[in-house]
Amino acid sequence: MSRNPEAPIDSRFVQRWSPRSFTGKPITAGELMSLFEAARWAPSTSNTQPWRFVYGLAGTPGFESIFQALVPFNQSWARASSALIAVLSAQQTIAPGTTEAKPCANHSFDTGAAWMSLALQAEAMGWRAHAMGGFDAQALRQQLGVPGGFAAHCVVAVGEQGPRESLPQALQEREVPSGRQPMHAMVAEGRFTFSG
Ligand SMILES: Cc1cc2nc3c(=O)[nH]c(=O)nc-3n(C[C@H](O)[C@H](O)[C@H](O)COP(=O)(O)O)c2cc1C
Repeated sequence: MSRNPEAPIDSRFVQRWSPRSFTGKPITAGELMSLFEAARWAPSTSNTQPWRFVYGLAGTPGFESIFQALVPFNQSWARASSALIAVLSAQQTIAPGTTEAKPCANHSFDTGAAWMSLALQAEAMGWRAHAMGGFDAQALRQQLGVPGGFAAHCVVAVGEQGPRESLPQALQEREVPSGRQPMHAMVAEGRFTFSG
């Protein structure tokens, strides 16, 4: 499938992708902090910074806690990742310069921006980041002790990309960077002209 940009862009946007084959190379907590640091500088509504990350390094109880909440399909490949990150967000936030917690309508939107910064920082450091919506939210909340008032968005597997051949046959066939819908299907000038 084509992964050619329709307009000139920085190559890192098309080079980022979500493989499932990982080598298991250990990542340090320090390296992971660079990923979170990138996320920390994401823009957010009134600078409320609603994103929260809980991580576990491979081989630690924290990794197992997150891993246990993944659906079996994701468990089948994410075991070889170097770290798992639960991406959460606060549904109520206290904006800088204020004292009152207020509902944050854009907590999901802002946290999506932060996750993308994290993913691009991972790429810049030679790692890959693969988001997963396939997890049991109730189990994740319980495993990590996430209180009410916080949303659980996804789990991100971080690792060094491994060879396609190390995956089971069915996954090998899917281990290829995906394409995108054409630009005109998502960009219009002046008026909403999309069919769907
Ligand atoms: C929020 C979110 C949830 C996703 N859930 C899963 C998942 O549960 N399992 C999986 O293998 N991939 C999952 N993906 C990866 C997407 O399938 C992938 O990003 C998409 O096909 C585009 O491919 P690319 O990231 O390689 O460009 C998810 C991605 C996002 C952003």
